Amino acid sequence: MDTQVGIVGAGPAGLLLAHLLGREGIDCVVLEARSREYVEHRVRAGVLEQGTVDVLTRTGVADRLQREGMVHRGIELRFGGEGHRVALSDLAGGRAITVYGQQEVVKDLIAARLDAGGPLEFEAPATEIDAERGVVRYGDGGSDELRCAIVAGCDGFHGVARAAVPADALTVYEREYPFAWLGILARAAPSSEELIYTHHERGFALHSMRSADVTRNYRQVAPGEDIEAWPDERIWEELQTRMALADGSFALNEGEVFEKGIAPMRSFVAEPMRHGRLVLAGDAAHIVPATGAKGLNLAVADVRVLARALSAYFAHGDESGLDTYSERCLRRVWRVQHFSWWMTAMLHRLTGDAFEARLQRSQLDYVVRSRAAATTLAENYVGLELEDV
Ligand code: FAD
Ligand code: PHB
Repeated sequence: MDTQVGIVGAGPAGLLLAHLLGREGIDCVVLEARSREYVEHRVRAGVLEQGTVDVLTRTGVADRLQREGMVHRGIELRFGGEGHRVALSDLAGGRAITVYGQQEVVKDLIAARLDAGGPLEFEAPATEIDAERGVVRYGDGGSDELRCAIVAGCDGFHGVARAAVPADALTVYEREYPFAWLGILARAAPSSEELIYTHHERGFALHSMRSADVTRNYRQVAPGEDIEAWPDERIWEELQTRMALADGSFALNEGEVFEKGIAPMRSFVAEPMRHGRLVLAGDAAHIVPATGAKGLNLAVADVRVLARALSAYFAHGDESGLDTYSERCLRRVWRVQHFSWWMTAMLHRLTGDAFEARLQRSQLDYVVRSRAAATTLAENYVGLELEDV
């Protein structure tokens, strides 16, 4: 054996797994296809559940997160030209979310891994994984080989790990949505203290943020949309239209757009999450549409279960945690799939059908009027405890 755990991918899943295993004295090697610069600047998620913040804090990688992260105790649902606050913390036992960029989490975990002296190889793409033998081929044309007791496939949706499971051993559930998100980062102060999820007849819009002077906004676009067709002025104009309040009291602060991109919306689950010596974690095994703000948090939840299982396995040869890993994770995965699908279906312009739009408005009305319905949203949004799913 070259290492106990070969970790493919240095996204949040792979890096957190390396961090948790390193603390238990378990030897692992992380292989990442891209450069450090690239992974540290890839703009993605921004909402951390309470449980995600807790695990980073407990394990000593949250100094900057505690200083710079913005704790939010509510969100706004905006529809029919009116805003309605959902008091997340009041409804969900005091729990909150923290707004802190995914790439900041990635930077903090890379720094921790390198400080601990752990192997982390950039520009070392895995090309082939043997799930039965625990062998990873990587590097230029697969010239290098890593032999592992366990391989953790944390290489995201487009990685090689999932493909290493024979097709007849894997069941895939998938849904593609007929829309995508165009996201921008802009140098502008947030226009609201909390995130605003907007349902509008022209389509969904979301106002989020990264700091006191950087905002993150998203709007629903057609899936094949060309980013070049959207000059900045047009993006702002459309966001302003969708997010306007009927009494004219709201305007988004505008500023220089320094990042923009289009992300597809997809639901995807591959079951089971283990085959032989290979385990899958994070986006390698499942994808959720971003409306629930869950992908990163789900990756973290998988890794918490996996780290516990691996620690029992290497300490006492106890395989029970590994045997139940997939089943334990999939309970949460499907809860989160449902929540993400539900938020997506409630907030986007779907087919443009008037009946559908009426149902959405009824659902939104119910969520902001009924404490029971708002609690359902709140406890899923802040994240259910591992024990509760
Ligand atoms: P990834 O972050 O994809 O990491 C996989 C890593 O593996 C990458 O670094 C990749 O380069 C590497 N890799 C790939 N192939 C190979 C290979 N062959 N060999 C070696 N390495 C390889 N989630 C939330 O929780 N909250 C949000 O608010 C949110 N917003 C989002 C907004 C957008 C626009 C997008 C696109 C996503 C959002 N998500 C959100 C989802 C979240 O970003 C992902 O779920 C998260 O990145 C999953 O982490 P991961 O480590 O599993 O995968
Ligand atoms: C973000 O800030 O990037 C963000 C916030 C909420 C979401 C998705 C993305 O649901």
